[in-house]
Amino acid sequence: MTLSNVVWTCGLLALLHLQGSSSKVALQAPRFRQPREGRTGELELTDGSETFEVVQEGLPLCQQILATYSFANSYGVPYVGSYAPPSCDFNRVTWNLTVTSNGTQYDRLGTVWLGDIEVLHTSTAEPSGGAISWIYLKACLETAQEQRIIFDLGNSITATNTAAYNITLTVTHYAEANASAPADLIIPISKRLSSQDLPSAFSTPGDDATNIFWWSNVLSSDVNALPDYGELYGYSPFREVQLFIDGSLAGVAWPFPIVFTGAEDEIDITPWLPLLCDRNSHTFSLKVAGLANGNGTVGVSGTVGSYWLLSGKIFIWYDEKGHFTNGTVPQINAPALDVRITTTGPGGSGDTVKLYYQVNVQRELEVTSTVKTSNGSQPRV
Ligand SMILES: *[C@@H]1O[C@H](CO)[C@@H](O)[C@H](O)[C@H]1NC(C)=O
Ligand SMILES: *[C@@H]1O[C@H](CO)[C@@H](O)[C@H](O)[C@H]1NC(C)=O
Ligand SMILES: *[C@@H]1O[C@H](CO)[C@@H](O)[C@H](O)[C@H]1NC(C)=O
Ligand SMILES: *[C@@H]1O[C@H](CO)[C@@H](O)[C@H](O)[C@H]1NC(C)=O
Ligand SMILES: *[C@@H]1O[C@H](CO)[C@@H](O)[C@H](O)[C@H]1NC(C)=O
Ligand SMILES: *[C@@H]1O[C@H](CO)[C@@H](O)[C@H](O)[C@H]1NC(C)=O
Ligand SMILES: *[C@@H]1O[C@H](CO)[C@@H](O)[C@H](O)[C@H]1NC(C)=O
Repeated sequence: MTLSNVVWTCGLLALLHLQGSSSKVALQAPRFRQPREGRTGELELTDGSETFEVVQEGLPLCQQILATYSFANSYGVPYVGSYAPPSCDFNRVTWNLTVTSNGTQYDRLGTVWLGDIEVLHTSTAEPSGGAISWIYLKACLETAQEQRIIFDLGNSITATNTAAYNITLTVTHYAEANASAPADLIIPISKRLSSQDLPSAFSTPGDDATNIFWWSNVLSSDVNALPDYGELYGYSPFREVQLFIDGSLAGVAWPFPIVFTGAEDEIDITPWLPLLCDRNSHTFSLKVAGLANGNGTVGVSGTVGSYWLLSGKIFIWYDEKGHFTNGTVPQINAPALDVRITTTGPGGSGDTVKLYYQVNVQRELEVTSTVKTSNGSQPRV
């Protein structure tokens, strides 16, 4: 996949949130804050992933509707609106995406952007004739600036696929005591197309069927194992999103399939600060890999043969004014991926044909440096 050049500003701590990857970008400073972990309270908002949000009961909330829209024939035609932060005091933000649909339709991918920054990645349910609805709650970025909101959900109505997806997106702002410090800067790693009213995800070529169901793909050696079902999707159910900084492997994320809500993974790039803060430009690249096997060998594939929508955002916390972070060059310890695969079949009797396969993958990746902040030197791993 592709590359981004980021003109870097120096930091104390840097985290990369991945939803993605290309193109040259110039530094701008959207005044956002990253979503933060909740504390225990009464109402638990969960998106099914390990990150969850909790709203403490009794806090004054202020709510507004960000978008109501019916996605019918909406390929290439996102909803575009604007978001103006409310005047109430807030340091936390949650979104409520409510979707209704009535009829038959494929499952569709959706992304929501505040400017060039991706804030929500989702796939719809697949209604099969009836009326359905669901609600998705998510902690969101805070911003004190007015932003363009771009909601992309490509749908298509035909004689058989009759259903539109009707959405209501509501935002709740509230102020929580002891909220941790927000990031000082968020840099999108995206195509930055919001000024053209377009979503900014990078995509790999292919069709989205292999993207949505990658976690059920077979080993590449077995793609023709069930001839009655045509060629199966390969590269195994294992996926690794790899981050490279100036061509060196800087971190990996293993996306876990999360139905409807997409995956959001975090890579800590703090050990890279001494390199990133040298006042030169640096290149961030993202790559999606699977497993390739055959002829008795197995290894990381250079491609996954299918379509992925990706974007990333880098959260940066500044050190004290005037201090320029430096330190030692990061040392990378990245032994090869340890992969074990077994496959049995196809076999079975009667109408049932079974193919069993098992994939075990282990990887160690350690990046070490000493980061000199205004408070002295700290080893970072
Ligand atoms: C989410 O919004 C829907 C309407 O759009 C509302 O019915 C529902 O109660 C909301 N849920 C929460 C937890 O705010
Ligand atoms: C979705 O919105 C369209 C257009 O407003 C409307 O005709 C349709 O009845 C709505 N469907 C559902 C399930 O709400
Ligand atoms: C769904 O569509 C059917 C057929 O058009 C209609 O009879 C039914 O009332 C609709 N249900 C809802 C909840 O809109
Ligand atoms: C905030 O921190 C103070 C001091 O540590 C503590 O007494 C208070 O209970 C905390 N409040 C909440 C809502 O966590
Ligand atoms: C296996 O080996 C054959 C002969 O060398 C080669 O043509 C084929 O591409 C190889 N297949 C894979 C999956 O590596
Ligand atoms: C430096 O250390 C002090 C005391 O531990 C802490 O309050 C402060 O936030 C630190 N500053 C930076 C820039 O790390
Ligand atoms: C790191 O920063 C300190 C303090 O700003 C400076 O004295 C030192 O020369 C810098 N080291 C390098 C290798 O740039």
